[in-house]
Amino acid sequence: MKKVTFKTIEWTENGVVMIDQRALPAREAYLTLKTPEEIADAIKKMAIRGAPAIGVAAAMGIALGAKNFTSLPPDEFKSKVEALFPLFASTRPTAVNLFWAIKRMKNLFEEKIASSPDRIAALMVLEAHAIMEEDIHANRRIGEFGSTLIPSEASVLTHCNAGALATAGHGTALGVIRTAVGKGKKVRVFADETRPFLQGARLTAWELIKDGIPVTLITDNMAGYMMNLGEIDLVIVGADRVAANGDLANKIGTYSLSILAKEHGIPFYVAAPVSTIDMSIDSGKGIPIEERNREEITHFHSIPVAPERVHVRNPAFDVTPHANVTAIITERGIARPPYRLALNEITGSRS
Ligand code: MRU
Repeated sequence: MKKVTFKTIEWTENGVVMIDQRALPAREAYLTLKTPEEIADAIKKMAIRGAPAIGVAAAMGIALGAKNFTSLPPDEFKSKVEALFPLFASTRPTAVNLFWAIKRMKNLFEEKIASSPDRIAALMVLEAHAIMEEDIHANRRIGEFGSTLIPSEASVLTHCNAGALATAGHGTALGVIRTAVGKGKKVRVFADETRPFLQGARLTAWELIKDGIPVTLITDNMAGYMMNLGEIDLVIVGADRVAANGDLANKIGTYSLSILAKEHGIPFYVAAPVSTIDMSIDSGKGIPIEERNREEITHFHSIPVAPERVHVRNPAFDVTPHANVTAIITERGIARPPYRLALNEITGSRS
């Protein structure tokens, strides 16, 4: 298996250490965060981003808070920890992994409420570690399943960053590519730059180069032309939330890519752990889409690239209809249409 050469997020004696993704690719800088508020702020400001990674960060932030509060009287400890759940829930709205991780931490807290603060905090730290380890394990399984879909020589287009940087390690979409490369397949990646935050140019290109996987950077509006030239064999992306019918939210631009892939008869794969599937939402229409600040569009590294008074929209995600998706690769297997049935089976849900 192709090993990742950096750590996205780590629990240490000194605090939660994470690579500051805003500084990449110019600098590989690490933040050491000592309070839950600092971690919530890092999620909001996208020092850490990517659906599974923000779930892990929230779990660690809650565990860190619990650990920091153990010297308080039990009642105060409990109310301080209780306030952490809404704090993290308010950071970003679209990726369901965040809410899934918060719920896991909250359930544990409520289950152990009669225990001492020390014991509750220790168990919450263990739970955060479990969430992190499970994510890495899930990504490796996704890699195993997904790599069977990759031809022995393939040119693969991806959008945004669904790599080790977006998860606890290995990655989802890039995890499939890592595993395929590890199995000796010759994979060349085309990375969309991913306007406006440039996760493709800054992060995907950085992590693939760092790990020695061939990558070619294109701007988002070049994808159709590359497909038309016959240079793309398949598309693989991650997801922030998959609805019960298989519609999914992912980085803005994914929807257009899915239409382009369909038009050109190119397979469009989605790689996502079960923690990204939200069976409580019937279709993509119910997925909350984050709108981010106008400066991400109007400025480039603080330099204005649009008139000051222009009206701006900045949805960070879009919804890809299930009809455009060839398969959804999870750690429990590959879901194919009809997705409602396949996702029910994969999640063990009866809804
Ligand atoms: O705004 P971001 O950078 O958090 O968006 C990330 C994505 O859209 C990823 O494709 C998604 O979270 C899957 S990551 C395994």
